[in-house]
Amino acid sequence: MSSFNISQLTRVVNEAILALDNIKTSENLKKFKIKYLSANSQIVKSGKLISTLPADKRAEAGQKVSQFKETILHKYLETAEKIENDILNQRLKNESIDITLPFNRRVLGARHPLSELIDEIEDFFTSIGWSISDGPEIEAEWFNFDALNFTPDHPARAMQDTFYTTQPNLVMRTHTSPVQIRAMLSQGVPIYIAVPGKVFRSDELDATHSPVFHQVEGLAVDTNINLSDLKGILSIFAKKMFGSQAKTRIRPSYFPFTEPSGEIDVWFEAKKGGGGWIEWGGCGMVHPNVLRSVGVNPDKYSGLAFGIGLERTLNLRHSITDMHNLVEGDIRFAKQFIQGGIKGGASA
Ligand code: DAH
Repeated sequence: MSSFNISQLTRVVNEAILALDNIKTSENLKKFKIKYLSANSQIVKSGKLISTLPADKRAEAGQKVSQFKETILHKYLETAEKIENDILNQRLKNESIDITLPFNRRVLGARHPLSELIDEIEDFFTSIGWSISDGPEIEAEWFNFDALNFTPDHPARAMQDTFYTTQPNLVMRTHTSPVQIRAMLSQGVPIYIAVPGKVFRSDELDATHSPVFHQVEGLAVDTNINLSDLKGILSIFAKKMFGSQAKTRIRPSYFPFTEPSGEIDVWFEAKKGGGGWIEWGGCGMVHPNVLRSVGVNPDKYSGLAFGIGLERTLNLRHSITDMHNLVEGDIRFAKQFIQGGIKGGASA
């Protein structure tokens, strides 16, 4: 265009408006801008040609050109906004989260089989109406020994058995039995409690021992508790742990805090060298001196008690032959016990 030509300019503007209708991407919009709105575009160039017009035509031509520019610019901005919105909507659509889709969360760990067993044991005892109690792991010698009728020279108090603290009269509890005393003092009698917990003995870690292990203590004190109650509760507890076929027997033994005292054995068909009895824990009728130590009248009340090793229970139930498996915390070991893994005891 070497001279100002209004009809040609009108055609260019119409063509530009039509072109904008078909532009859907920002690249094409950029090309459009160069073609129709840059310094080299026909419209801008024709603006410069106005000065070649006769003086009386210039004002009208100037108005026309700025009107054309405005029309194109307006439509251009509209199109730019539409493209931007389309891009945003597309992105929102792609990034939206469907909360109904199945998730793919990575399992980071596995609960320790002992924690699972403790839950199982607590469920069992609460299901028969007992409550769960606990006590401190650093314990007064009086609770751990004296109140349980241990004589001052009892060998269990020896350094090779017990971890003494630097505080006088405080030990790492060697069993869960001191909670019998604490619970009777705080709750009184009658009482029916189970006490799962950690205990400590100065043993080296080997295939069958660990200096830190777990027990569950049981205590029932009421006006009419006798040996057949002890036999009954241990028999159903064993069935809960090992399956409904489990058989138990109580064999005479000695503990300072029970009279009579016994060891509870469970029959294992799969025992090495043929079926046989395997010791599971200690038990007995609460010694009258223990009841006296907490101010309970032994002529009116009697009680049963037992203490069972939890590592021992797991080892027997799952044929685990090395204690290291239970203390090393290898997730591949623990994972075998989570749902779908090794089955727990059948329900009694
Ligand atoms: N406290 C005993 C131990 O650790 C186990 C035990 C035996 C607990 C007889 C009892 C019981 O309650 O009556 O070896």
